[in-house]
Amino acid sequence: MPVLDLLPDSAAVEDGALAIGGVRASELADEFGTPLVAYCEATLRAQARAYRAAAPEALVAYGSKAFPNLALLRLFAEEGLGADVSTLGELELARRAGVPGERLVVHGNNKSDEELRTAAEAGADLVVLDALDEVERAAAAGVRRVLVRVTSGIEADTHEAIRTGHHGSKFGLPPEEAVEALRRTAAAGLDPAGLHVHIGSQLLETQAARMAVEWLGAFAAACRTELGGWEPAVVDLGGGLGVRHVEDEEPPSVEEFVSELLQRLERAWDLHGLPQPLVVLEPGRSLVGRAGVALYRVGAVKRASEATTYVAVDGGMSDNPRPQLYGARYTAVLADRADEPGEHAYTVTGKNCEEEVLVRRVLLPEPRRGDVLAIPAAGAYTLAMSSNYNLLPRPAAVLVGDGEARLIRRRETLDEVLSLESP
Ligand SMILES: Cc1ncc(COP(=O)(O)O)c(C=O)c1O
Repeated sequence: MPVLDLLPDSAAVEDGALAIGGVRASELADEFGTPLVAYCEATLRAQARAYRAAAPEALVAYGSKAFPNLALLRLFAEEGLGADVSTLGELELARRAGVPGERLVVHGNNKSDEELRTAAEAGADLVVLDALDEVERAAAAGVRRVLVRVTSGIEADTHEAIRTGHHGSKFGLPPEEAVEALRRTAAAGLDPAGLHVHIGSQLLETQAARMAVEWLGAFAAACRTELGGWEPAVVDLGGGLGVRHVEDEEPPSVEEFVSELLQRLERAWDLHGLPQPLVVLEPGRSLVGRAGVALYRVGAVKRASEATTYVAVDGGMSDNPRPQLYGARYTAVLADRADEPGEHAYTVTGKNCEEEVLVRRVLLPEPRRGDVLAIPAAGAYTLAMSSNYNLLPRPAAVLVGDGEARLIRRRETLDEVLSLESP
């Protein structure tokens, strides 16, 4: 069944019913309510181990923005991963999860003084400078070891909202300014440990990332000349590996992606006579995307025109804004009729007051009110980007494995949503 390729490792269809981690998806929906994101523990661990195996010497820091969650951060910490955080909230969560300071990488294109101070207090090993005045501000806040994020000018083949390495990006510093930032670190009393690049997210091929690594080697060599022999001890290549949400997307495996980047880096560094650096990787989506399956309850089924029949579910862009933001594509199956052939193409929409489309034209057996609809590969940048649009409470998440399910984020209540109003 092709859809199984998009689902987590533990997914299986028995008697037509989709199960994840040994638990029927429709039972999860009954017990925990919908919308719900079910994360497969085995897939999370397997992805983390794939990164560790592909880059045993590297620091792998989970790009926690993909889904900042205590249980996942703890699970990844058990697997030897660190965390990449980019706000006070993400930093605080990583601290509460017990991620040690030496495995914390602190980002942010507009860090507040409080964020810089908290990074220093947390003993974060690496703070990634993203603006010139952050040099002095970071030093004043007590930060010691920094990377400088530089924009390579390489255009990744991905949606413009998640493309970050091009000239003119709001992230990182253009090369001349990055050199200037490195130059100023000495006077500020900072340790300029190295360089950072992240060219974009949802990369489905390695070409742009490989080019960025080669570019970085040349840039590091230029820095050495400009800065009297300085060489980066650390090189952080960011995240970016894509996830397969629909059958025609074919991202490389973790092994392929990482080994290509590391080989390129080794060659580029040798070419420029630079000592091999410690590598940092910051995968987000590729760790959690395929592990998470979104479960919704079907409500209205409406024939809107000759061409379009809507299946409306009890969530929408408020729990997964990616289709609206980036034109992201997904597919769907009916959880208890996963092996029935689709008869007609349906468009899955939500409850939000926009012409939102979660899944465009997916073949399904006739959906009925009350069916559970599962959307594969919905673990990254979904709950993380969720909102209370239309005053919808945010969904819950569970971790499943060995026939058990554990709540890792409870559903928001309507009272919580309404409690922000002044009486
Ligand atoms: C600096 C940095 N590192 C890591 C990531 C994670 O990227 P991905 O989820 O594509 O792996 C991002 C995503 O925006 C990022 O900006």
